[in-house]
Amino acid sequence: MSSERVHSESTQHVKVDPRILDAYYTPEAVARELVSHLPAGVTGAVMDPTVGDGALLRAVHSRYEESVTLLGIDVNGKTVRNLRRERPDWCLSQADCLKSESRLASKAWRLARADLDVVVMNPPFSHRGGGGAWVEFGDFAGHVAPAVHFLTELISNLNPRHGFYAILPDGALRAERHEKLWAEIEKSFEVRVLAKLRTSLFAGARVSTSIIHLKSGRTIRNEPAVLQSKNNGSCRCVDIVRGRVPVHKARTSVIKDPVPFIHTSAIGAAQHPQSSDLVLSDTTPFVLISRVGSWRSPRTLEIGPVVLSDCVIAIRPTHRPNLTDLFEDIVEHESLFLDALRGTGAQYLTLRALTECLQKLGWQPRISRSGVAPTPCLCAAETRVIYGSQ
Ligand SMILES: C[S@@+](CC[C@H](N)C(=O)[O-])C[C@H]1O[C@@H](n2cnc3c(N)ncnc32)[C@H](O)[C@@H]1O
Repeated sequence: MSSERVHSESTQHVKVDPRILDAYYTPEAVARELVSHLPAGVTGAVMDPTVGDGALLRAVHSRYEESVTLLGIDVNGKTVRNLRRERPDWCLSQADCLKSESRLASKAWRLARADLDVVVMNPPFSHRGGGGAWVEFGDFAGHVAPAVHFLTELISNLNPRHGFYAILPDGALRAERHEKLWAEIEKSFEVRVLAKLRTSLFAGARVSTSIIHLKSGRTIRNEPAVLQSKNNGSCRCVDIVRGRVPVHKARTSVIKDPVPFIHTSAIGAAQHPQSSDLVLSDTTPFVLISRVGSWRSPRTLEIGPVVLSDCVIAIRPTHRPNLTDLFEDIVEHESLFLDALRGTGAQYLTLRALTECLQKLGWQPRISRSGVAPTPCLCAAETRVIYGSQ
């Protein structure tokens, strides 16, 4: 990595309670094991959002050497200063990665948002009293353990090409209170336990942990015929983005950068009188459909960034010129989407049902978090997987 990437922003004044830092650094052998599970061809940016003394990034560097760019964040200023001295060629920022304002002010986070291959992480595990943090993810809302709080925050806001490789306490995976959250996560991520680790790994803490991998999106390997006939060498990838901002929260107390707020009522309207803040936004162009209530004709939207209400879903073609094709396909096959609307009282469209509709039409949908950069085109890679060396 070139030295221009060295982090030069001034250290933010993030107040830290040292007891909650949970600085149990990953032993070298475990860091190497985690990194051994990463795919062979990683050549982009790799981030550790709770970098500590850099154990995981050191293991990444010893495997991929100069072909990767290393990004690290830690809330502890002293930790970051020490690591910068040791590793001046890494991009290291002090930020609280649980707080959007703090992380958005950091260079490492902004680089990660722009383009990212992998996240490696060993987040803090410890409860220091209290019932855990309140988390909202898809249809889940509830209190969760700290490690799960870090994980959901990160998978909601970063979109690494090869996914997240995390050391998590087994309680984070198995606790009853996390069951519904994992069911929700599994709607949009493939989750795999890669290895179980020894309980005595972390000096001073006995805890059973595992290395897990989360990769966004689902492939459509069971429908190669559709892919092959419709693909014709052109990209059919689309992001399905479910809006997340309830109407009553659209107007935050301070809107720094106003952008249009898109609610179901906007599907038919030319003007968008309500605004919300750019930090919550998604990028158009996309086809907009209503997630709840009766089916309304979809519409295309090409007006720069907008904030999506939790009642709408955006379907965004990776290849922008496909917008019209996508729109026409949906309109032409409206009955497919009408059948997919479920519910006895209020009707609603699930992301799974929508994914299936788009797959039937030969598109390659991936469920993407709102507020995350568009997913890069993956169909070339997927085609290789499906058709071998063709
Ligand atoms: C368990 S250690 C892991 C460090 C390193 N990733 C490793 O594997 O060795 C957790 C680290 O998270 C940092 N941390 C705690 N809360 C944080 C937050 N809100 N944002 C960023 N870093 C945080 C701590 O300072 C500590 O260095």
